[in-house]
Amino acid sequence: MPALATDTLSDLLSVPVGALVVPEGETAVLLSLVVPTYNEAGNVGLLVQKLTGLLDRICPEDYELIIVDDNSPDGTWEIARSLLPDYPQLRVMRRTEERGLSTAVIRGWQVSCGRVLGVIDGDLQHPPEVLEKLLAELVAGADLAVASRHVEGGGISEWSVFRRLTSRGAQILGLMIAPNVVGRVSDPMSGYFMVQRSAIAQQILNPQGYKILLEILGRGEVGRISEVGYVFQERQDGESKVTWRQYVEYLQHLVRLRSDGRLEKLKERFPVGRFLRFGTVGFSGVFVDMGVFWMLTTILLLAPVPATVLSAEVAVINNFIWNDRWTFADRSGQQPGRRSALKRFWKFNVLCLVGIVLQGTLVGVMSKFAVIPAIGAKLLAIALVMLWNFWINLKLSWRVTDTKR
Ligand code: GDD
Ligand code: MN
Repeated sequence: MPALATDTLSDLLSVPVGALVVPEGETAVLLSLVVPTYNEAGNVGLLVQKLTGLLDRICPEDYELIIVDDNSPDGTWEIARSLLPDYPQLRVMRRTEERGLSTAVIRGWQVSCGRVLGVIDGDLQHPPEVLEKLLAELVAGADLAVASRHVEGGGISEWSVFRRLTSRGAQILGLMIAPNVVGRVSDPMSGYFMVQRSAIAQQILNPQGYKILLEILGRGEVGRISEVGYVFQERQDGESKVTWRQYVEYLQHLVRLRSDGRLEKLKERFPVGRFLRFGTVGFSGVFVDMGVFWMLTTILLLAPVPATVLSAEVAVINNFIWNDRWTFADRSGQQPGRRSALKRFWKFNVLCLVGIVLQGTLVGVMSKFAVIPAIGAKLLAIALVMLWNFWINLKLSWRVTDTKR
């Protein structure tokens, strides 16, 4: 079980490496609550005491509390570790290779075994009592429950005007850059929330900097969202780690979330690049066709009709290979094996034949009813059939059934 994976010679959780993907996994408890910490030596003892006190009451033995510390110079991880014997639901991870709030949270979730994944700050600025309400929302069927400063019951204790302005400014900027993501909750900056494991499992998460909730909203399969008001408390010990860098990372993150969604949708609707590749391959096929035809008739002295059929088939094979390796390379890659390649080839062949018949019909119809010269009719027919060929091959020959999406 992942939650029990520990450093070989210690009582610490081992740190996952590679992509930031939360596995579907086997779940053993209701809640896995991650606390990211950096230099919280003065807070961690009281925090663990408060959180376990609360959770022992609302979901006894059905939770785990995971502290993920980035090798804090003040020794937060050592203090947390010394608490292990007294708190059976506590786990501690010490990261030495990676740093950063968001990745710390995901690394913690990666080794967790809860059906619900949560996060809370380690400096007691997030009031622990709210956990009970958040969890209740998830148990009642929400995909995501966010503790918010901007709904009924929410607020900020003693923030300066400057800090209030930057916080709201960041939110408004976010609404302009990535409205679909930021606009879904009243407090998108919140670092205090719970999400169903199933809503984010198997997704590659790639958050930048501080705002992991943005990534969850942008990439998770989040349907029902609940918000619970909370008052952001003043820090009693230690200091905030926010610098101007976090603002830059926030902006970069927003831009990425925005372009991701848009580009993907546009590409899906208008596969321009793919169509250009398909056209290039088709163009190369004309030369293959003519070249082979020339060789068959002048060197092998074949009659024109069998030479036409043979050279056309060679061109079809040429086009198939290029399309399979290049135009639709991403899709062929998803259907490996000789058998499926042969299947694609067979479909492509049939569709080429259908295309030729279609072209003949179009030329026939146009030259009979319209006043276009034959060569114009032929050119128009080629263009139309090429569009048709591209579309039908996209849908049939290189179709991938992706039931997971
Ligand atoms: N592991 C790890 N690595 N933890 C970190 C790191 C890091 O690089 N940086 C910060 N943390 C931990 C802190 O120790 C603390 O427990 C928590 O993350 C939040 O960091 P703070 O520096 O205290 O952030 P804040 O109080 O300014 O901002 C908080 O308030 C926001 C509300 O606007 C954060 O919790 C935000 O997530 C929250 O939304
Ligand atoms: Mn804080």
